[in-house]
Amino acid sequence: MKLSKSGKHVFASDFGTSFYKFGPWWLMKKGPDVVENRGYFPKISKVSAEIRGITPREVIVGPEVTEYLESRADLTRLHYPMRNGIVERNDERGWRVIKELVRYGLKKYYPGEKAVDGTPFNGFYVVVSLAAQSPTYMFERMFSIHEEVNAEEGGNLVRAVTIIPQPLAVAIAERATTCIVIEAGHGNTQITPISRDVIRTALIPLNRGGSDSDRIAAQILRDLGYPELAREEKFVRIFKESVGLVPIDLDKAIKWAKEHPSVLQSVFRIPGTAVEVDMGDKVWQRFLIGEYFFNPSHEIFESYYSRGFTPPKDTLIGGEVIPGNVSLAEAVKRAIAKTPVELQAAISKNLILSGGAFNWSVPPALKGVATDSPTKMKLMLSKLGIETKPKMVSDPQYSVWRGSVVYGMAVPETLRWNWSTLEGWHYV
Ligand SMILES: Nc1ncnc2c1ncn2[C@@H]1O[C@H](COP(=O)(O)OP(=O)(O)OP(=O)(O)O)[C@@H](O)[C@H]1O
Ligand SMILES: [Mg+2]
Repeated sequence: MKLSKSGKHVFASDFGTSFYKFGPWWLMKKGPDVVENRGYFPKISKVSAEIRGITPREVIVGPEVTEYLESRADLTRLHYPMRNGIVERNDERGWRVIKELVRYGLKKYYPGEKAVDGTPFNGFYVVVSLAAQSPTYMFERMFSIHEEVNAEEGGNLVRAVTIIPQPLAVAIAERATTCIVIEAGHGNTQITPISRDVIRTALIPLNRGGSDSDRIAAQILRDLGYPELAREEKFVRIFKESVGLVPIDLDKAIKWAKEHPSVLQSVFRIPGTAVEVDMGDKVWQRFLIGEYFFNPSHEIFESYYSRGFTPPKDTLIGGEVIPGNVSLAEAVKRAIAKTPVELQAAISKNLILSGGAFNWSVPPALKGVATDSPTKMKLMLSKLGIETKPKMVSDPQYSVWRGSVVYGMAVPETLRWNWSTLEGWHYV
């Protein structure tokens, strides 16, 4: 990646519900740095900190957090600022975590007076990518956090900040101008028709993501008799990723699994732990974990709902209620219907899947029953009369970050932030 002539040093920050992905343009080939989007608020008192010779800090972020997690009780001091891609306006702890992450990321890559390519460094041009449905206060808060961090760290860290919707960054990374991007991470799924820019009136943000597969996986663990394991988020996620399967057709997959009990692996040893889970004759439930993300309205989940398991929350958008358990295909259909008729064919043809929640793989022995995300979407949409061949980005968890770097390079320094177009640089 070449620097723009002016020597603009772009730094991109993708704030996700589970991960903060960040780094300067010179990581473009390698991919962004990643830390969990969370902070730890230590109890340690000033006095005891002085005695132990450490500086007391209000919040810890990044890899250091692990050092503080000595006991289970400490988990209550751990704060994850985002729910479904959004930080609540009044979540002061959450905003403290975001600010610390901003500081951590920028300082880690601060090159000094000269950048890696020998050109003078006068602060980063920071591209912050946020969920497309982010309310205005998130924009304002991001600007002020960067101003504060820059002032507190000597004034040469940040030059300017801009903000881009995550799905638009994906479209830029994929060089697509007319498309639908479905960006599905841990906490939210943005079904985003794009024609040069995001068609905001057609955007459908769902309160759904990989975390919903985690919830059903946790319920399955409880039903199997592992309630302790089900309580530990990290463990549940590892379990989900290694055990979950996306069925081509859920009913057929379950029938097949019951008829061929020995083909599906049912005992799982979780890497890096001493834990073993035996799914026994419930091994068919592996398919529920994948299906749930795509279609929580499948009737099989009724038995979960009637036991108090809650479906994803509804979305209220432009006066319309999108049910939380809507199938992804149905949501895509609704988003398409909200775009001008003339555009509908063109955008439906180009469906781009991105984000970790689509990252499912298919064990070779299960090719006839399990499938990958693009194929699942294709089949579901076809049933609704939409024929298209969805494409998955090559690096689903990093395409937002990559697109943000490209975007930052392209926005001219002279373009000032404009609240009506939501474009340009906000100089700090
Ligand atoms: N191989 C995999 N199989 C299943 N799920 C996976 C796999 N790899 C990653 N995931 C899931 O992807 C999610 C993280 O994706 P991503 O990094 O895109 O989310 P995020 O950016 O933190 O959140 P969001 O964009 O929703 O705010 C997690 O739920 C994770 O478990
Ligand atoms: Mg994300």
